[in-house]
Amino acid sequence: MGNPQFSDFVSIRDFSKQQISLVLKRAKQMLPYASGERKIRPLDGKILGTLFYEPSTRTRLSFESAMLRLGGTVMGFSSPMGTSIEKGENLSDTIRVTESYADILVIRHPLEGAARLAADVSSKPVINAGDGAGQHPTQTILDLFTMLESKERLEGLNVVILGDLKFGRTVHSLSEALATFGANLTFVAPPSLEMPREVIAEIESKGIKPKYATALEDAVREADILYVTRIQKERFADATEYAKVAGSYRIDSRLLSQGKSTLSVMHPLPRINEISPEVDSTPHSLYFKQAANGIPVRMAILSMLMGAEF
Ligand code: CP
Repeated sequence: MGNPQFSDFVSIRDFSKQQISLVLKRAKQMLPYASGERKIRPLDGKILGTLFYEPSTRTRLSFESAMLRLGGTVMGFSSPMGTSIEKGENLSDTIRVTESYADILVIRHPLEGAARLAADVSSKPVINAGDGAGQHPTQTILDLFTMLESKERLEGLNVVILGDLKFGRTVHSLSEALATFGANLTFVAPPSLEMPREVIAEIESKGIKPKYATALEDAVREADILYVTRIQKERFADATEYAKVAGSYRIDSRLLSQGKSTLSVMHPLPRINEISPEVDSTPHSLYFKQAANGIPVRMAILSMLMGAEF
């Protein structure tokens, strides 16, 4: 094992453009190994601990698959149910114990800042798999990777980001990373779910001035990517507030016909009803490819954090 290239993977703000580019390059190299076409075992004998305090399909299973493809093994929990968290164990104690059982930890937690706390407590590398309405940095890398694979550039790309921009952690880290790479951003959000001011400030500090649109038809006309998110029902304190915005947008073929023929639709998934299933079979659909890219990207991140030679 060589020297790790990073100590943790907690926030996209911790990484320079050059460092993100290195991860994207490693992910590209991982493609034949991610599909199983070629075999490698640089993490043979290493254990990934998966600590999921919130539900997940893609993130948890693609991390598991990535670790197995690298020759390592996985242990962990997919919910606090059945663990000592139910007895009241605090996060810091859970991390102190699980880091002694594993070589690297992945954590998803409902509280913003939980992954940072875990990284501060743990002497082993910690990866943020989503912290409340904070960030989802590994999703961001796979989003960038998918855009690059599809459009072959990030600089100057016209990206429209639609949905719950307030609570959607994927769009916080993604917008900041896209600004780092010089993409043009347009935000479309239902009232009360606009992008937080601190994320906008971070984007503007990188020299990108986002546009704001209310009419989706206008926003998609010049878009290269339409990045759609679901409304994060679980983050609403009041069910009536959620009911006011639920179902307020839906992407269908009629809307997409207003845009470029090369317009691609992305979504971190799961979708509820934001994208009509009729879009799935059109050339616009990129969201299932995006989910599949979780494997090479997470293989890249795991191998770089573990200092695996490649
Ligand atoms: N994109 C994403 O984080 O999906 P999961 O919640 O299924 O992990």
